[in-house]
Parts: sequence; C-alpha cells; structure tokens
Amino acid sequence: MSSVLIRDVANFVGQEVTIRGWLYNKTDKGRLQFLMVRDGSGLIQAVAFNKALPAEAFQAAQVVTQESSLIVTGTVQQEPRAPGGYELALSNVEIVQLAQDYPITPKEHGIDFLMDNRHLWLRSRVQWAVLRVRAAVVRAIRDYLDNQGFLLVDCPILTPSACEGTTTLFETEYFGEKAYLTQSGQLYNEATIMAFGRTYCFGPAFRAEKSKTRRHLIEFWMVEPEMAYAGLEECLRVEEELLSYVVMRVLESCKEELQILERDTTKLEQIVPPFPRISYNDVLQLLKEAGEELAWGEDFGAPHEVAIAARYDKPVFVHRYPAKCKAFYMAADPENPELSLSADLLAPEGYGEIIGGGERIASLELLEARIAEHQLPREAYEWYLDLRRYGSVPHSGFGLGIERTVTYLCGIHHIRETIAFPRTLGRMYP
Ligand code: 4AD
Ligand code: MG
Repeated sequence: MSSVLIRDVANFVGQEVTIRGWLYNKTDKGRLQFLMVRDGSGLIQAVAFNKALPAEAFQAAQVVTQESSLIVTGTVQQEPRAPGGYELALSNVEIVQLAQDYPITPKEHGIDFLMDNRHLWLRSRVQWAVLRVRAAVVRAIRDYLDNQGFLLVDCPILTPSACEGTTTLFETEYFGEKAYLTQSGQLYNEATIMAFGRTYCFGPAFRAEKSKTRRHLIEFWMVEPEMAYAGLEECLRVEEELLSYVVMRVLESCKEELQILERDTTKLEQIVPPFPRISYNDVLQLLKEAGEELAWGEDFGAPHEVAIAARYDKPVFVHRYPAKCKAFYMAADPENPELSLSADLLAPEGYGEIIGGGERIASLELLEARIAEHQLPREAYEWYLDLRRYGSVPHSGFGLGIERTVTYLCGIHHIRETIAFPRTLGRMYP
C-alpha cells in the first residue's frame, strides 16, 4: 500500500492508510497505546488497541520510544477530541529504528542545551511551525517581487569591499588578496537596475557584529529590491505593500502554524498600507518629551525603537536620519544636506527594525566626497562610481531581514529560532 501524508488524511476518512514517520510522544493506557505520530507534514494521534493488531505489532506499539522512526497503518476516523480532528485506528505498527534515550524530553530544557541539540530540536512542534512560517514568508516575498516586475539577480558572496561599514566585515583570503563575506548585495544591484530597471537579490549576509542581542545573527538572509528612477517615497510605498502582502499570505497559509505559536493574529490583521511616517527629528522631539533625550546625530538603540514603535499599531517608517549615522551611499535631503533620504521600518510590538533603505546618491561628486569622508579605499569602488558616470539616475532600494521579519510574524522572543542552524556570537555548532 502506498503511504499518505498526515496533512492529507481528511481525504481518506473510513479508509486504511499507511503513514511513515516518527513517534512524537506516547500515552500508555495498557490495552490502548496512544501514539502521536509526526511525518513532517503534520501530527496525528494513532490508537493501538490490543485486539485490533497482530500481537507482534501491538508489542511494537508498547515498546516504541520517542523519536523512533516507524510505519503505521490504520483506518482514518473523524475524532473531534484528537489534535487536528482525525485519528488512526491502527491495524499495524512497524518500527524502522528504535531510538534510545532521545535527549529532548517533554520537560523544560535550558536554551544552551537546546542549541547544542539544534539538529534534533528542529523536530519539535514550535520549531516546525516557525520554519514553516519562514518558508511561507520567502515564498510570498518572491511572488510579490516577481509579479511587480522585479528581476531576481543574485549577487556575489565574496566581495572586495564593504557596503555597510568596515567594522563588521568578515575577512578571508582570495588568492593572495583580501576578500570579505558580503554584508549586502545592494551595491551590485545598483549596477543591475541600470540594465534591468528593477531587480532584487535574495541571499545570506554576514556581519561580524559583536552584539549578543535577541535581534542579531552573524549570518542572516536578506531580500534587497532596488529600483531605477525611484525616489524615497516610492521606495516606502513598495516596502509597505510588500510587507502587507507577506503578512496577508502568512495569515492565509499558516493558520495552523500561528495557532501552534499562539500568535495574536488580530495584531497582524491590521497590517495594511499606508504605514505611518515620522522623521528622525520628530522622533528626537518625542523622546525628549518622554525624558529620553538623545543627542542629534546619535542612532537609536533598541529601547528607543521599542518606544517609538509602541506609539503605533502598524509598522512605522522613521525617515531622514542624519547623514552621519547612515551608510556612505545615502542620498542627501535637498532641503537639508545634513539629513539623508533614508528610512528604517520599525515593527510593532517591540520587534524593532526589520527594513533599512532609502534613496542612493546619484551625483558623482557627492559620492566621491562620501567615499573619502568614510575613508573607504577608492580603488575598490571605481566600478560603483562608473554607475554615476554613465547614465546615472535617481534610484532607491531597501533590505528586509528575513529572520527579523519571521521573529515578528511568529511573535517569538529570539531571532535564533527563525533559521534552521543559527550562527550567533560565539556559536557555530551544529
Ligand atoms: O539596515 P541594513 O544594514 O541595510 C542594508 O544592508 C542595506 N544595504 C539594504 C539595502 O538598502 N539594500 O540591513 C537591512 C536589514 C535590517 O533592517 C534587518 O532586518 C536585517 O537586514 N539585519 C539583520 N538581521 C539579523 N541579524 C543582523 N545582524 C542584521 N543586520 C541587519
Ligand atoms: Mg539598518
């Protein structure tokens, strides 16, 4: 008999099916063994009644241990009291491999222990839900951008220069030359938009950040759309539309996952365009009124971001940061050259910055000056300067951090659970 997936059992009520999976947990009631079986697609209760199975199969149900691999056969029955609404009345149980002393038991474990066992922890319910939301987020982002005329152009991982400041570069060696793991594909896609109009890259980014916070990974994934002939306002419009679309798709396609995560979805349902906008200078004023004074030109810390976002139900754009607290490529505000045409999108509920972006410098002279001011090695940026020599246009773009977005949509505390094998400060195992 061919096997079926647990997520499809509703189509087989009254029929005998075979499921290949693992034992999630078990309740022993003597003549009745309640096996919770998972197969990657879902979880189902499978009931072994001693009279309904060959003696050998019932014995397998009695001895099978947590996370043993097993193949079960039984009749699908509607059972409102069972998780998912269906259960299997078993006629056979076959153990594929008997697992001994699975380390992650239903009791509470410390985070270090769980991280050491990340390769096994992935099997647990909450982790399953989070990583499925992540996949849904990625799928929705790609669908949105592909449908809006953005061409996927992937950018190099090994790069000769910095995009987001020299302090967080991961250095390596490239046949006798210095190379760095990419911090962002942006500079390259500023080149590709001059060929294709609108592009995006989607890949890993690396930052040797010495910060051990619940929002920082050393290796994270970012989607970076870039648009020719687009100013800051259009950039923000695409950002709010993209994020709203992603939230809508996750609400639609991840109902079970969000339920497992006990996510308050009413908060997510409010995420529709337009998002509120507030300038950096106005934020400073608000912080001052709240007794949290910050010197002009200082970047916000996590507590400031939380305080700002708490004023809104939707994500909020903070725009026009002082040029000196942003990267070298940010266009200057024509109304005040000390300000940049930049914006960060801060998520509600204390999740902080999930998008950074803005308009790029189009003028050759200003870009040359900024490269010098930031003491960047000019030779490495000659190709980038060429983009201002040959058909320069106003252009904008942004980077959305996948893991920060998933942390927020799942409503979980720490970013490390949103990627299968997180790289965090001081941890590279497993
Ligand atoms: O604000 P960032 O540094 O912007 C850039 O890299 C631009 N070059 C993007 C662009 O305009 N094309 O990073 C963008 C986003 C952040 O808002 C955050 O969501 C995420 O990337 N991010 C991180 N996520 C996890 N761990 C880290 N260490 C992160 N650093 C940035
Ligand atoms: Mg940023």
